[in-house]
Amino acid sequence: MKSFASRIVTWQQRHGRHTLPWQATRDPYRIWLSEIMLQQTQVATVVPYFERFVARFPDLAALAAADEDDVLALWSGLGYYSRARNLHAAARAIVTRHGGTFPAQPDLIARLPGVGRSTAAAIAALAFGRTCAILDGNVKRVLARHGGIAGWPGEKRTETALWALAESLLPRIGIEAYTQGMMDLGAMVCTRSQPDCASCPVSADCIARKQGRVSELPT
Ligand code: ADE
Repeated sequence: MKSFASRIVTWQQRHGRHTLPWQATRDPYRIWLSEIMLQQTQVATVVPYFERFVARFPDLAALAAADEDDVLALWSGLGYYSRARNLHAAARAIVTRHGGTFPAQPDLIARLPGVGRSTAAAIAALAFGRTCAILDGNVKRVLARHGGIAGWPGEKRTETALWALAESLLPRIGIEAYTQGMMDLGAMVCTRSQPDCASCPVSADCIARKQGRVSELPT
């Protein structure tokens, strides 16, 4: 059997999402903006907000120079407004700390306001090709099922185990498709209710499936 990662990469290329507006670029600014918008909001809602935002603020310098009120106005209707305030503060931090160049190192990205470990890793992987693991809600569910990791994913011990598993499965090549593929698999196939195991590229060695526990994991 091919490795977990190469099955995810092949599946993403054939069946994953390819036409989202932030996928047509390696611009870290656009990828970062999309990841922040997608933290608490569905893809279909985000797309028009993303398009309006980049039309008004096409790059980091434009965002850093903006008035906070104008940033919040473009965010209006998306909710979780601390995301917009943090976004604006982070743009200014990139100007002061990094001379206006978006940092490529995941630990530097993670120090920006509003950016946690998983979001930083997604930006580093998708924009800079860095080999680093993401662990958002969808990916936690995929990995908890595949690795048979029981326990509430919000609990420290469970989360530590999931991060370790995520790190252990990373590909040597194709981190961009792999990262997008893990997100796509969680959103499209390994869904919370009624997962489509018959369409899953990694179901053959999925522990929850072997144990007949897919619908109860994660706990
Ligand atoms: N959710 C979080 N990041 C995403 C991405 N890059 N594509 C689709 N959904 C996402």
